[in-house]
Amino acid sequence: MTDKITYERQGEIAVLRITNPPVNALSHAVRQGMMERMDEAEADENVRAVLIVGEGRAFIAGADIREFGKTPLEPHLPDVCNRIESSPLLVVASMHGVSLGGGLEVALSAHYRIAQPSARVGLPEVNLGLIPGAGATQRLPRVIGAEMAIEIITSGRQIGAGEAEDLGIVDAIEEGDPETVGLAYAERLLAEGAARRPVSEMPAPAPIDWDATYASVLKRGRGQIAPAQAVRAVQAASELPFAEGLKAERQMFWDLMKTDQRQGMIHAFFSERAVGALPELKDVAPRDVKSVGVIGGGTMGAGIATAALLSGLSVTLVEMTQEAADAAHSRIDGNLSAAVKRGKISREKHDALLNGALTLATDYDALSEVDLVVEAVFEDMEVKREVFGRLDAVCKPGCVLATNTSYLDVNEIAAATRRPEDVIGLHFFSPAHVMKLLEIVVADATAPEVVATGFALGKRLGKVSVRAGVCDGFIGNRILATFRAAADHMVLDGATPFEIDSAIRNFGFAMGPFEVSDLAGLDIGWATRKRKAPTLDPRARVGRYADRLCEEGNFGQKTGKGFYIYEKDQRGGTPNPQVMEYVEAERAERGITPRDFSEDEIQRRYMAAMVNEAAKVVGDGIARRPLDVDMVLLFGYGFPRYRGGPLKWADMVGLPALLADIEGYAQEDDFFWQPAPLLKTLVDKERTFDDLNKEAAA
Ligand code: 3HC
Ligand code: NAI
Repeated sequence: MTDKITYERQGEIAVLRITNPPVNALSHAVRQGMMERMDEAEADENVRAVLIVGEGRAFIAGADIREFGKTPLEPHLPDVCNRIESSPLLVVASMHGVSLGGGLEVALSAHYRIAQPSARVGLPEVNLGLIPGAGATQRLPRVIGAEMAIEIITSGRQIGAGEAEDLGIVDAIEEGDPETVGLAYAERLLAEGAARRPVSEMPAPAPIDWDATYASVLKRGRGQIAPAQAVRAVQAASELPFAEGLKAERQMFWDLMKTDQRQGMIHAFFSERAVGALPELKDVAPRDVKSVGVIGGGTMGAGIATAALLSGLSVTLVEMTQEAADAAHSRIDGNLSAAVKRGKISREKHDALLNGALTLATDYDALSEVDLVVEAVFEDMEVKREVFGRLDAVCKPGCVLATNTSYLDVNEIAAATRRPEDVIGLHFFSPAHVMKLLEIVVADATAPEVVATGFALGKRLGKVSVRAGVCDGFIGNRILATFRAAADHMVLDGATPFEIDSAIRNFGFAMGPFEVSDLAGLDIGWATRKRKAPTLDPRARVGRYADRLCEEGNFGQKTGKGFYIYEKDQRGGTPNPQVMEYVEAERAERGITPRDFSEDEIQRRYMAAMVNEAAKVVGDGIARRPLDVDMVLLFGYGFPRYRGGPLKWADMVGLPALLADIEGYAQEDDFFWQPAPLLKTLVDKERTFDDLNKEAAA
């Protein structure tokens, strides 16, 4: 067991080296090893100090997340931390890479802390639906005060060594091998006769307005409970003796461990990492991509070019006219300037990217040497086919030809070239340099190395890339069309768009569907409705009230009016009273007697539509695994992370209840509410979506 911690004596200092790759998570064996090695150090009469270091790329990344949800085994982490802190020896932590969660808690239990300049510390437990559970809510506020501790714990953010030193979280920063630096520091402390310095013996933090802080953190969490609980834990540090505060923290930690929110967030943590693990790509090398071409410099093309530039790629953007190219240039300039404002890049870097790494052209010949092209022209099959024909003629052999289409058939686009094996969909989300999701749409003929190149590019751009098959809307937009239709139906039947937005926000989304429409532009949905009208099944119900807004030139935020009215310099909008006039007129025309919808019913119907379509997307093989759908909704559509994604949420609610809801709704509208065959099978076999995820990983 103890081989996870090696023990070596260097003069008067015992070096405890944590060796648990890849990130030294505090598994049971590590915790046990720490206890044993502390005993060993104390039993060695030549030892006066202990130095704790981590092997590999990090000090310690925290508790072992894979153990969560299983029966906890002794020694527990708080016991390990108390054991370290109460040692009669002088204990020093030398930190490199990350010290996160339990990793920082171990470090805070040491009496002194030294860090590499590149080290980062943080308490990301809230991102897992938890609060720190091994003393950080009690020790950190004793070091840096309640307010700052709450900021760090509730945000879960990572802090650089410099800031950590300014705050007093680390005592010194020194570059070098962590063991060498740590030994020198410990020797210095011994020579100076430095005393042990247990944080638990420091004065309790001064009180703040706990209730007001709790309320504001709760509000910011949009339904997430862990950050608000963290405020109460820090309050315990202020009001209770250390040992009692520790107990209170532990109780809250275990209570949170039992919640669906913890399950949802840990599902998100592992799924985010699993989406890129495709068995067929295991031994496939991606093509080398150093330069990228972008066709079209509108909203998406400019965003994609910005993302590529920020990741160090050179970009050639082709537009139709010089005027359009100039407009693209200023859009990219705007995006990069915003990055300067946020402190992401320097002004010099901005200039170098805009005037060095970016080339604008109006001639496709400029693309003859690029390694990959992303097309982002108008959403029109004829235009796209024409563009791909031209790309086929000018691009070098082996160049990856990608389309950013939202809905169109990638097979048909590929057929416009003589090299369909090089054609793929790379579906970015707006704004493309900000949104984390990238759908990688694999067409019938796409070569595996082209898929691998898509994933490699996604990684380079910092995206969460999800494989999708070809269908109308791929994974995300196909599901969106369905739950958006469910919202539309509820409006026809009696709910207001404002009630729906509010219910969906209360579910945890940042925005409701009608607010999203206003943001995206109502003209987009209007154009889609017009395009689909001729082939629409007569049984499909589509509201016309939004068309009335568009006919009057009200397209949402960009025109100042849509479902909401937007005043200059004001955040958000106020409900547009015209909307309900149009809705009521349409209800009367259709002979609908409106009925009330409770918030619960709105949420249930909206989610049932989402889950049902998601199950169809998995059943049809458009998404490989339920977790792929979950990550698309999380990173592209604002689904609340603490609920894990629609299919994880469905598992937690219970699939039989959901199917019963859908079958109930089908009695009113059996065209729209057709239960997904996969959902029925899972219910019949008493299985869950997560069983399918596990099966795929096995
Ligand atoms: N437990 C178990 N496995 C972990 C882990 C952890 N705490 N942290 C990372 N891993 C695993 C990942 O799942 C991944 O496994 P894989 O290779 O099988 O997919 C591998 O380590 C490498 O991780 P990444 O791919 O994420 O590598 P990066 O270099 O991009 O990031 C990291 C490293 C910054 C450490 C990032 O993994 C991370 O943020 N980890 C989570 C840290 C965290 O949340 N710690 C708090 C835990 S809760 C806690 O400590 C409770 C305590 O208060 C009691
Ligand atoms: P846009 O209208 O803002 O930009 C399109 C640009 O392409 C225009 O600047 C136009 O001048 C240029 N263009 C048209 N034909 C061209 C050609 N033959 N050669 C060179 N340039 C040409 O459109 P937007 O919103 O950027 O969309 C582009 C594509 O991205 C569409 O396929 C759309 O479906 C897709 N998309 C859009 C999203 C959005 O939120 N706007 C999200 C994801 C995908």
